[in-house]
Amino acid sequence: MAEENWVDIGSTAELSGAPLRRVTTKNRELAVSCKDGQFGVVSNACNHVGGPLGDGRLDGEYIVCPWHNWKFHRCTGKGEPGFEEDAVPAYPVKIENDRVLVDLAAATKRTKKPHAPHPLARKVERAPGPLRLAGISTSAMDEANPRFSGSDHLLGHALQSCVLHGAETRLIRLSELKFRACEGYYSKSAHACTWPCSITQMDDGDQMDRVYEALVHWADVIIVASPIRWGAASSLYFKMAERLNCVQNAVTIRNQVLIRNKVAGFIIVGGQDNIQGVAGQMLGFFAELGFIFPQFPYVAHSRGWSREDMERNVEIVRNSAELAEGASMLAKRCLDLAAHLIAQDDAPTSIERGGRKAHDLHMEPRP
Ligand code: FES
Repeated sequence: MAEENWVDIGSTAELSGAPLRRVTTKNRELAVSCKDGQFGVVSNACNHVGGPLGDGRLDGEYIVCPWHNWKFHRCTGKGEPGFEEDAVPAYPVKIENDRVLVDLAAATKRTKKPHAPHPLARKVERAPGPLRLAGISTSAMDEANPRFSGSDHLLGHALQSCVLHGAETRLIRLSELKFRACEGYYSKSAHACTWPCSITQMDDGDQMDRVYEALVHWADVIIVASPIRWGAASSLYFKMAERLNCVQNAVTIRNQVLIRNKVAGFIIVGGQDNIQGVAGQMLGFFAELGFIFPQFPYVAHSRGWSREDMERNVEIVRNSAELAEGASMLAKRCLDLAAHLIAQDDAPTSIERGGRKAHDLHMEPRP
């Protein structure tokens, strides 16, 4: 039988002052709870991706992980009903002379219930076949009473032209998808922002998985179409972009490059101006994800500051052969570049902290 190793972790008065807290002792991180005068001590590290259980909250006898809400019994360490096999180490506790003692030598074993990996977590490998282009419409729309959208119209031309080039196409209209806004897992910890997205893994009903599937697994080319709203891309564009943080974060925290040999182009249409500002944001963002751009990576149109005749703007975009041709040519440039990248196939599969995000600052003292 292993020797006991009882360690004093604090007074009962102090440790009963909060229902749950994190305590570090002898290089061991513990989640210490107190409910109705009874103490419980389990490992601080969650079974999922290591969230700090001691920073969570109590739900009855269960600790709720602050990162993605997995639950573990505060005394036995076992997962919630149905998930008992998912257990974090639990420690014997005793009280002596108003001190809380924990036997560090007698923790129960950490056990993990096998969880089927999410389909998006599969290896990123280009499936053989013709070039594939996904169009992403970010224009908000009353689907029951649709209106003419200039950016959608030009995206349609881009997709149609792909057929002539033998490419497969897929159109994703964000306005048709039900998906949650990013809830800020990255703001808790970079490691709480997982690939696949934490929300996608927790919520079967969240339809952002269609976008992830197209961008990461299916498409060689994406064309993102956006209207201009108050000098910026559409609200749905930003809702999508925030949910794509997990794709970029995979590079930052694991050197995992999910976007490789893929090309992005953009269609930007607005009643007012600031096309270059909108394009700059889109180019910067999709570059961070790992996309490559063709020469002249966007087609755009705006009516300008001095006009308020949106009816005329609609007419111009609807009837402009030049804009339609421009959208088609953008698709062709993107497909040509993607074909080249796929044939070369020399993009790195791992770039150590690409972009040097989250780098250490080594400041040399001045002589
Ligand atoms: S639920 Fe604990 S780390 Fe995800």
